[in-house]
Amino acid sequence: MKLPKIPYLIAIDGPAGSGKGTIAKLISKKLSLNYLDSGAIYRVIAFSAIINNIPSDQVLKLTSLVGSINMKFEGEDVLLNNKVITDKIRTPEVSKFSSEIAVHSKLRDEILNLQRSFYRGNGLVAEGRDMTTVVFVNADLKVYLDASPHKRANRRYKQLILKGNNVNIQELTCEIKARDKRDTERKASPLKIADEAKILNTDDLTIGQTVDKILTFIN
Ligand code: DC
Repeated sequence: MKLPKIPYLIAIDGPAGSGKGTIAKLISKKLSLNYLDSGAIYRVIAFSAIINNIPSDQVLKLTSLVGSINMKFEGEDVLLNNKVITDKIRTPEVSKFSSEIAVHSKLRDEILNLQRSFYRGNGLVAEGRDMTTVVFVNADLKVYLDASPHKRANRRYKQLILKGNNVNIQELTCEIKARDKRDTERKASPLKIADEAKILNTDDLTIGQTVDKILTFIN
């Protein structure tokens, strides 16, 4: 498929479990664009804070932590100070903590340049909570992916079970609802639908159908 312009920038936002990660990664591969999982950045900071015993409300300590760690994204792998932590950042504990630290605008500002640095070469598919509203306001295409809490909890459950985690679907549903509440109600860059965003509910769509729909938006 030929892009209307190069570089091209696709920004995708949506709540936990809406399928953003899977969909954005597939589109980036299809179109040979870079991929940014902005949630992974919050998760690396959260993981690092947890192992350094920094509470989620200590914004100054969290911000200076960002300056002192080395995070890298290599293909599917996430590295913290050259150690692979790919699966360690996907636990329910890190999910909750990353949503808690994401309320701090000072911390969010600290990682703006890092996120924007992924926009290079042919362009980027970026996914998260504020890609369409704050980080990439000039994106060529903005998409808001949604799905019911029940469907989203089921997807997360399957992902976590496949990775060998011991999780409970009821707890996961509660955790997702709490995270939705925190991510949409916070003052700093809350998750919301951008004016120009195309809204896509993925409840009854397969991964392939969702990717195809987004590709049709490009034209
Ligand atoms: O996309 P995710 O579930 O991996 O994100 C984990 C948390 O990080 C999410 O609950 C809130 C925060 N986050 C954010 O505030 N802004 C982003 N652009 C991405 C994630």
